[in-house]
Amino acid sequence: MSSDKKAVLHWGDGKSTEFPVLTGTIGPEVVDIRSLYGKTGMFTYDPGFMSTACATSRITYIDGDEGVLLYRGYSIEQLAQSCDFLEVCYLLLNGELPNAKQRGEFVNTVTRHTMVHDQLNRFFTGFRRDAHPMAVMVGVVGALSAFYHDSLDINNPEHRKISAFRLIAKIPTIVAMTYKYSMGQPFVYPRNDLSYSENFMRMMFAVPAEEYKMNPVLVRALDRILILHADHEQNASTSTVRQAGSSGANPFACMAAGIACLWGPAHGGANEACLNMLEEIGDASKIPEFIKQVKDKNSNVKLMGFGHRVYKNYDPRAKLMRETCHEVLNELGLHDDRLFKLAIALEKVALEDEYFVSRKLYPNVDFYSGIVQRALGIPVAMFTCIFALARTVGWIAQWAEMVGDPENKIARPRQLYAGAPRRDVVPLEKR
Ligand code: SDX
Repeated sequence: MSSDKKAVLHWGDGKSTEFPVLTGTIGPEVVDIRSLYGKTGMFTYDPGFMSTACATSRITYIDGDEGVLLYRGYSIEQLAQSCDFLEVCYLLLNGELPNAKQRGEFVNTVTRHTMVHDQLNRFFTGFRRDAHPMAVMVGVVGALSAFYHDSLDINNPEHRKISAFRLIAKIPTIVAMTYKYSMGQPFVYPRNDLSYSENFMRMMFAVPAEEYKMNPVLVRALDRILILHADHEQNASTSTVRQAGSSGANPFACMAAGIACLWGPAHGGANEACLNMLEEIGDASKIPEFIKQVKDKNSNVKLMGFGHRVYKNYDPRAKLMRETCHEVLNELGLHDDRLFKLAIALEKVALEDEYFVSRKLYPNVDFYSGIVQRALGIPVAMFTCIFALARTVGWIAQWAEMVGDPENKIARPRQLYAGAPRRDVVPLEKR
């Protein structure tokens, strides 16, 4: 990756220092500033890491200006069209799409890890029924490390592999248990004769009183939602997983850290916030007033599901999510779904408004995902749990890449100190 290019920093009384420029396969080059502090006694300053690459990665590539998203070089559009979620999981973890034999083995292994230790059921009773599902997820996923002492050595590739299978397989079971617990309904055990997404839909919505009727259109829609959320480069929650993993923490603890970060409304919590926003707006006649509030900085109101740190064009996942919306609403005979029509109208107004155009604010993955999940029968509070379910494979792939990276060091950023200079303590009686 190194190139013969150099970046020169001119600083203080005629001094200058050269830094190597590194070139990747595609996308921006990077200035390797690892020697900056040693050579200049200065740090870089980049709150929010707007211009900072934290690692070399081969997993996901985003071109924010063009609205391109690639998983291991394959476009999200082709993957969403031609693959199912477990194929995409195999791709993210192994770098290549599986052939039929590899796919069969992978699906078989995941399927046979979907049950959780029966004692884990007791963790749920410690929560209030009305606890936010993400609070439950953080607790229960973190607790998994108490059950798998046989696979906590992160430097053992076999341990990393079995942990990956356990997490991909068990998170849907835990998400469904979280939902059932909130509903006061009995947990539904996974079945090995069902596909990954069929299993999840049944664990979520089946009740002992009757056979669950599978709808293949809805199952395919869910599977596509999982593909669209599977990975996304060094986003906030993935960076959290990497940071936690850099200290040598076990994968279950790292995933719990990622879930906690994803919960925030600026990140994965935006799908829940977006649907609540649409409910609050109510109907298209209220859009102008709402947009006025968004433009008023003092209102602190944001158009949830819009804007992105990287995409300064339409998020390709939002387009695919909107198509999935159409498919699901048509299948359910909800062509005139109130919120979907409102979202379409709101998107049109925003995309023609200078405030959003000048700031390159477009719909992101969260703008339509809430509407389609609601149509699937998933309650608003569970939306971010579905996001966490899908992103688990991305977190694991990125965590495993980091653990295996020879350049990996414990993440320990520095700061610009603006606090009090050194001073002496004044005795209490004199303060
Ligand atoms: C996800 O990183 C990832 O990859 C994340 C994700 C993934 O798959 O992991 O893609 C998933 O988190 C998608 C984003 C979901 N969040 C939301 O939809 C919440 C609403 N969006 C904003 O909070 C915001 O757009 C962020 C947090 C997503 C991005 O924020 P940035 O990059 O820090 O941009 P910014 O806040 O500096 O915004 C630039 C300007 C500001 O106005 P000015 O100071 O220039 O006047 O745009 C404004 C912002 O106020 N702005 C918005 C806005 N988003 C940005 N104004 C109104 N509504 C919005 N949604």
